[in-house]
Amino acid sequence: MKILVTGGTGYIGSHTVVELINKGYECIILDNLYNSSEKVLDRIKMITDIRPKFYKVDIRDKETLEEVFKENKIDAVIHFAGLKAVGESVAKPLEYYENNITGSINLYELMLKYNVKNLVFSSSATVYGDSFKSPLKEEYGRGNTTNPYGASKAINEMIIEDIGVANKDFSAILLRYFNPVGAHESGLIGERPNGIPNNLVPYISDVVVGKLDHLNVFGDDYDTRDGTGVRDYIHVVDLAKAHVLAIEYALKHEGVNTINVGSGNGYSVLEVIKAYEKACGKPIPYRVTPRRPGDIATCFADTNKASELLGFNTKLNIEDMCKDAYNFICKNPDGIE
Ligand code: NAD
Ligand code: UFG
Repeated sequence: MKILVTGGTGYIGSHTVVELINKGYECIILDNLYNSSEKVLDRIKMITDIRPKFYKVDIRDKETLEEVFKENKIDAVIHFAGLKAVGESVAKPLEYYENNITGSINLYELMLKYNVKNLVFSSSATVYGDSFKSPLKEEYGRGNTTNPYGASKAINEMIIEDIGVANKDFSAILLRYFNPVGAHESGLIGERPNGIPNNLVPYISDVVVGKLDHLNVFGDDYDTRDGTGVRDYIHVVDLAKAHVLAIEYALKHEGVNTINVGSGNGYSVLEVIKAYEKACGKPIPYRVTPRRPGDIATCFADTNKASELLGFNTKLNIEDMCKDAYNFICKNPDGIE
């Protein structure tokens, strides 16, 4: 069984490739290396003993993308490739729409042309916007997205649903990720964003290894148990395993399904700091600052559909996430270069 993984050298993609290989699937990775390194392939080999076939291709370049479909008999696609920084998307909307929508349309067109009818797509809890109260259920649909990144995910969901209406034998799972964190327990793959991290756990990691002086806690006056923002953090290895279950479901069933992937538990910023302090054995200096514009108080998943449809339940907890994030940053303080 051959699975094409777009964005497969990236953070979530590389962990998913490892889990697919562990389950005996053959992976073909496609990535333009905009936000990842070819060295990730060596790391995957160190973990699994297999170096997946790799194409340095940009999904916006349809002609080159078609070569991948011509050369390989692909059974299913897991589509991670895209740009993902919320703030940057506000400054560069066309780049985001071109990458995340035009690029994805190229991919979907080629899937249909080459009769590849199974897809798993990386969506995000961001499509709920600020319209609904947690626990967020898939049946709520899509809320008001507040930035081009979120809009690009909502539009992709709509495009895939419409492909499903027009092609009855098409099968897709739209996975709405909550907050993926942590790294593979080997410390060989993980996430270290370029520049100053925007997200909480990568920012804490940089503080812990002394690259940054302290963490800014964005607001302690939310209506939550300690006043700081509550999110549903999920270990990236659990998330990767959800992709294996999703692709197996897509291979057996027709139709388009939307599924949350979270733990169903919310943790506050102060609780994450405590868990990370326990993992690294030292205090994490922080200062409370005003709220970050656009943030909501609480966001966590209703996980019943993932459990019922895919048999997916998370196994790793917040302490595992912090332990593995710490292990990765200690071994790769400058990321995988
Ligand atoms: P990532 O940046 O580590 O991985 C994305 C990969 O796609 C990178 O390797 C990048 O080089 C590649 N890429 C980007 N544009 C491309 C293009 N035009 N052609 C080919 N390759 C391209 O990000 P990630 O955290 O692994 O996220 C994977 C997917 O999951 C993304 O679609 C992201 O929007 C989505 N997602 C991520 C999060 C999160 O918090 N990490 C949350 C929700 C959804
Ligand atoms: N936070 C801080 N300090 C920081 C960074 C974050 O206090 O330096 C707080 C935030 O205010 C929030 C929590 O930590 O309460 C988590 O923030 P992240 O930036 O890690 O994650 P978000 O929930 O804001 O965003 C994530 C993804 C987005 C996605 C969104 C909704 O990064 O891509 O979830 O799914 F759009």
